[in-house]
Amino acid sequence: MAKQRTFSIIKPDATIANNTGGINKLIEESGLRIIAQRRIHMTRVQAERFYAVHAERPFFGELVDFMISAPVIVQVLEGEDAISKYREVMGATNPAEAADGTIRKLYAKSVGENSVHGSDGVETAAEEIPQFFSESEIVG
Ligand code: CMP
Repeated sequence: MAKQRTFSIIKPDATIANNTGGINKLIEESGLRIIAQRRIHMTRVQAERFYAVHAERPFFGELVDFMISAPVIVQVLEGEDAISKYREVMGATNPAEAADGTIRKLYAKSVGENSVHGSDGVETAAEEIPQFFSESEIVG
């Protein structure tokens, strides 16, 4: 498997709880490399665009409100098979179903406040990364 890039967000529940270092430790221990990172307060426009694929879901409004409720950390992660590796490190979307040792098992509160986002495929990663980083800000 070749080197891949994936997009990550450390969400408001995790920044408020001061868990960003703990999460980055799990990311790095998995072998993934953080090759871009910025702490931002997402705007409503950014969050609505980012989650546009979920616009018709009943939880869309709640999801957008949550994502703009406090700072987030946006990241690009790089490594072998980075997309599926990061999904393994994150654990299941619902923390109640997340495996031991995963980010969501350790830190997440609920399916909404689930501490991290990771791209779900190659095309999604290619669409998500440029929403927050230019190529010159990604230093692999
Ligand atoms: P994420 O990987 O960021 O992508 C979409 C997000 O929607 C997901 O993580 C969850 O945080 C959120 N989500 C999924 N299902 C629900 C739900 N039933 N209620 C609230 N938020 C949800």
